[in-house]
Amino acid sequence: MNPVLEEIEALYAMHGDNVYGEGVTMAQHALQSAALAEGEGADDRLVIAALLHDIGHFLQQRDDSYGYHKHDHSGGDWLARHFGPEVSEPARLHVAAKRYLCAVEPYYLARLSPASVYTLSKQGGPMSPAEMAAFAAQPFAEAAVRLRRWDDGGKEPGLTVPDFARYRSRLGRLLEEGRGAV
Ligand SMILES: [Fe+2]
Repeated sequence: MNPVLEEIEALYAMHGDNVYGEGVTMAQHALQSAALAEGEGADDRLVIAALLHDIGHFLQQRDDSYGYHKHDHSGGDWLARHFGPEVSEPARLHVAAKRYLCAVEPYYLARLSPASVYTLSKQGGPMSPAEMAAFAAQPFAEAAVRLRRWDDGGKEPGLTVPDFARYRSRLGRLLEEGRGAV
């Protein structure tokens, strides 16, 4: 098996049962997010970005019971070493996308989970107009906003979705393609 795929599986085996303030484990959250992405017809790279968007939580000591607040950056950096930007950048921007959506959609913040509202306070709060413009100009902003909605939706206690095995061949292929580049 690809050694990075082994590392991903080991990280989820070790930390996937962690719960960071939601009604689902981190493994359930990852799988639900990926299932939502696939259900909306996202391409394979964005499905894998949804699956791995929170991997940064597993790479650092947690800040508190809500995990590692800068997991978007640690995860984005780690993913960029192994996959192309279509995987790493939407994941890197998924917290920025939350801050963006809080600023542009009046009811978005009200629908966030309590844990997401708490971490928002640690992540800079809703974006300022200048931050919004800078975010929207980034090439993966739209993908990050899509991923963010699957992230928010992937927190349903008791929902059964396909397990990790469904994504193994895609993960292996994207890794073998040389950091996901076609
Ligand atoms: Fe998430």
